[in-house]
Amino acid sequence: MSKKRIMSGMRPTGQLHLGHWLGVLVNWEKLQDEYDCFFMVADWHALTTGFEKTEHLRANTREVLLDWLAVGIDPKRSTLYIQSSLQEIAELTLLLSMMTPVSWLTRNPTVKEQAAELHAAEDAMSSGWLNYPTLMSADILAFKGELVPVGKDQLPHLEISRDMARRFNHLYGEVFPEPKGLLTEESALPGLDGRKMSKSYHNDIKLADTPEATQQKVMTMVTDPGRQRRQDPGYPEVCTVYGYYNAIAPELVPQVAEECRSASIGCVQCKRRLADSLNATLAPIRERREAFAQTPGLLESIVQEGKEKASAVARETMAEVREAMKLNVITPAFAENPR
Ligand code: TRP
Ligand code: SF4
Repeated sequence: MSKKRIMSGMRPTGQLHLGHWLGVLVNWEKLQDEYDCFFMVADWHALTTGFEKTEHLRANTREVLLDWLAVGIDPKRSTLYIQSSLQEIAELTLLLSMMTPVSWLTRNPTVKEQAAELHAAEDAMSSGWLNYPTLMSADILAFKGELVPVGKDQLPHLEISRDMARRFNHLYGEVFPEPKGLLTEESALPGLDGRKMSKSYHNDIKLADTPEATQQKVMTMVTDPGRQRRQDPGYPEVCTVYGYYNAIAPELVPQVAEECRSASIGCVQCKRRLADSLNATLAPIRERREAFAQTPGLLESIVQEGKEKASAVARETMAEVREAMKLNVITPAFAENPR
């Protein structure tokens, strides 16, 4: 039996943080054996809100790829490629946009939220931005993706992808499987300040941070706010540092809890030990990342090969799509059967 196809992507936001790793990449890594995986850097999606400034786009794409490789996303088992290298995705986006009611796009909750964030600045909302879910649908459907591992913030987009697949099949004949979401658990690690870890909140720890930077960041983490003085007993349950122990060094958890409750350890010392654990956990990832970064031409050859594998699949899908929609008369089918 052939493996089911998985398709997922990430926008090139630059170096990835622990939230990406534990929330998304650990999951992708596990899927690689059981499924035929297509993982894509969505650089066109980055343009939907960042079209004016593209000078960091390539560097950010590189950083994302290095982080993927470092945590074990494996070009031998999966197909890794860059969205903008696949013309077929652009063509499918155009065709899907023809049959997509604008109301599907405007009532999408993610779009509404972002519209509020963009301060409803009319000029910031480009038609490409409104078409975000159309582009994402093309990403998935061009590869006949069956399962799409995403966080819950992406589910509304995915719902539109399912609607688009259904609508296309209804209008022109069965071409696309309806993609299903594979909900990924959110990372157990909040940001340094206890909010969700996010680059834009400046509360993240990057996979590629140095051990020193990691230690400094850990020292700024919020702790039990009730533990004002060294001799005050603490409540580890309300402490962000303690949550990190749970995720990174579960074997130390009973000890930390006891030492915190009995005030036999200070927060500074407790954080130093966490930083050491974190750095030990990340050391092999950082080493691999550095080795990949230092190998000339490596990333280029990986995404070149990925492009070739991906475009072979997407080309086939697009031939079916054009046939189903009766586009492009210069096809063998037309020569045999002109009407
Ligand atoms: N929109 C996704 C995000 O921001 C990234 C993405 C682009 C994606 N194309 C995709 C995810 C296709 C899954 C499938 O996280
Ligand atoms: Fe948090 Fe550790 Fe301080 Fe307890 S001792 S409050 S677990 S940092």
